Amino acid sequence: MYTAEMRELIKKVEATRSKRLGVHFARMTPEEKENVLQENHPDYKEQCFRKLAVGANKGSKVPVELADLIEAKSRLENVKLDLNRVHYDIDVLIIGGGGAGASAALEAHNQGAKVLIATKLRMGDANTMMAEGGIQAADKPEDSPAQHYIDVMGGGHFTNKKELVSTLVKDAPGVIKWLNDLGVMFDKEHDGTMVTTHGGGTSRKRMHAAADYTGAEIMRVLRDEVVNRGIEVAEFSPAVEILLDKNGKAAGAVLYNLETEEYLIARAKTIIITTGGAGRLHYQGFPTSNHYGATADGLVLAYRIGAELAFADAIQYHPTGVAYPPQIFGALVTEKVRSLGATPLNCDGEQFVYHLETRDVSSAAIIRECNIKNKGIDTPTGVKGVWLDTPLIEMIHGEGTIQKRLPAMLRMYKKFDIDMRKEPILVYPTLHYQNGGLLIDENGQTRVENLYVAGEAAGGIHGRNRLMGNSLLDILVFGRRAGAHAGAKSREVEVNELSLEHVQEYHNSLEANGVKTDRVSPMLLPHYTHGREDCE
Ligand code: FUM
Repeated sequence: MYTAEMRELIKKVEATRSKRLGVHFARMTPEEKENVLQENHPDYKEQCFRKLAVGANKGSKVPVELADLIEAKSRLENVKLDLNRVHYDIDVLIIGGGGAGASAALEAHNQGAKVLIATKLRMGDANTMMAEGGIQAADKPEDSPAQHYIDVMGGGHFTNKKELVSTLVKDAPGVIKWLNDLGVMFDKEHDGTMVTTHGGGTSRKRMHAAADYTGAEIMRVLRDEVVNRGIEVAEFSPAVEILLDKNGKAAGAVLYNLETEEYLIARAKTIIITTGGAGRLHYQGFPTSNHYGATADGLVLAYRIGAELAFADAIQYHPTGVAYPPQIFGALVTEKVRSLGATPLNCDGEQFVYHLETRDVSSAAIIRECNIKNKGIDTPTGVKGVWLDTPLIEMIHGEGTIQKRLPAMLRMYKKFDIDMRKEPILVYPTLHYQNGGLLIDENGQTRVENLYVAGEAAGGIHGRNRLMGNSLLDILVFGRRAGAHAGAKSREVEVNELSLEHVQEYHNSLEANGVKTDRVSPMLLPHYTHGREDCE
């Protein structure tokens, strides 16, 4: 599949390979990191951000694509709804059917709550399902939650909300045990101890994995558990607006059935938003590793009723998205490939960055190598990339390691006649994660009464940069906490008359602050075509 030109360049990689084996590449100093970030990381491109004109974060900058959705009108602007005609009357409404939603549902159910999961696509269509490399937890003798805490804070440049990090790392070992007991098949040694590896920015090997499809394995088990408990799931039914009651408390949502095109009223005592990330907004034109429904819906809906955003301008570009072949452009090449020893190399076959720097620094270094230093490798589509020297993995750990530890990666590349055991692969940063989101406390509560958030839609835990494996962890730590708290709280909540008056108030506020728009949000599905009018 590689072109003749690429094959010539691969010879340079092969020429330096044995000299690189076992040689430690120096890490950057703090000053070098700061410089490479400021000069190359997409978060520092001021022109790609805009200050919000309304709401709790008025005056704070967010990516322009997100600002456009936040400063848009409701999909219900011209829709007449009878809010007394309630289709779902439940205790806890969970909006989103990924790992955070499923774990929240299970814990709310444990509290005796009547739960509905309303999800835009199918249960499990979520970034959780696509997570590859693993989940962090300090559960080995040489490790500790305190050590994990320091790593998380360091990765986030010490901007993280400390109480959220503390909760994350302390709950982590319990989450692994919970998953293991539920039936998640983690990689284990012959004696039953869990196999753990490093990730970028970790000081201990604490990444637990199920090969390189860890998220799919976790989601398999959680989804089965939701189904086995008989928890109700409304599929293809995204929320298009949160309902408040006359006291201004969150009290349900208007759902839109994508199949019947009907609006349905869900009245609930507590609501948990678990709608995930925003990769499908393709910030700054980047490809994405995210699933099809990742369009920041939860951020838009919660912001409209007064919830606060934290670190919404901090976006994660995973250093190793596929640069080539074009059919899988932007797909994730798990960080585990580097954890197992593969190193990034430029067109001369030279390493230019320590292979396990934190993601923001690694991505910035790759962007610099390709776009400033002109040392990237050209592909036929015009995309540039750098080599990831995967054959090193088998030289370090022995033949068969890639088949055993990275079977999904091996298969993905084999489809295009690239054997990553024998030849390097080409990568470039891909839009992977929103580091921030809706600000929560340790139980997932927002500042809007009865509204909770968990998973990638939540903000504060990771500060300005998340480390690998702390997302699968946070969706479960805060999903479970939000579910338990919202379930217990629902016992004491009385829902008053339902209202959508806040929608008109939001529109008024947009107008009063000079925002003229005919856009509507949430987006629900990404726009990859120009719309029907172009086809007719
Ligand atoms: O590289 C990865 O496998 C991704 C993991 C994560 O985002 O936590």
